[in-house]
Amino acid sequence: MCNPIRLAVLVSGNGTNLQAFIDAIQLGELNAQIAVVLSDNPDAYALERANGGGIPVQSICRKDFLSKEAYELEMVEIIQRKAVDLILLAGFMRILSPTFLRNFPQKVLNIHPSLLPAFKGLDAQGQALNYGVKLSGCTVHFVDEGMDTGPIIQQAVVPVLPGDTREELALRIQKEEHRIFLEAVKLYQAGKLKIEGRRVKIMD
Ligand code: GRF
Repeated sequence: MCNPIRLAVLVSGNGTNLQAFIDAIQLGELNAQIAVVLSDNPDAYALERANGGGIPVQSICRKDFLSKEAYELEMVEIIQRKAVDLILLAGFMRILSPTFLRNFPQKVLNIHPSLLPAFKGLDAQGQALNYGVKLSGCTVHFVDEGMDTGPIIQQAVVPVLPGDTREELALRIQKEEHRIFLEAVKLYQAGKLKIEGRRVKIMD
């Protein structure tokens, strides 16, 4: 069996995606170690989840730094010190600039609660409901410098049901998020993802 993949998980909020990884690792479904959870929000519930899983946490607030560059460089240093193989943005509510990303080429994945390229940015579930789509879902993608624009690894579709509230739709999508994010990390770990331009080829 190969060595556990070392993950850094960046969060801002509730942390259900983080929890799904903690659970998968504990159940032996994923051979990984979460080396650090970084939060830009000291009150994020995700930090409690990490503590519960015995995972090192660090909260690092933008307002404590003079510039975005200094802030991102501090995150880079923390992550590099932990010798991380892959970085997961699991509800991390900031756009990372090249200052951060150039240090980790093809090593940052994001989960977004829509079928990209539809409904980028904030409140994708609310955007989908307001637009009146019949199907929505979620997307795991490599992170590039844009907002929710990087090459797509996995997507899952869920129906938008008549009378859905935003919360009902978000919950239906979330279940799929947890499944495809884990799946994407397993594919990455197995060396099966090959980026060709905008396309991510999944090798057999
Ligand atoms: C998820 O909907 C994810 O797609 C988006 O932010 C939300 C994070 O949820 N990027 P959680 O903190 O993992 O529960």
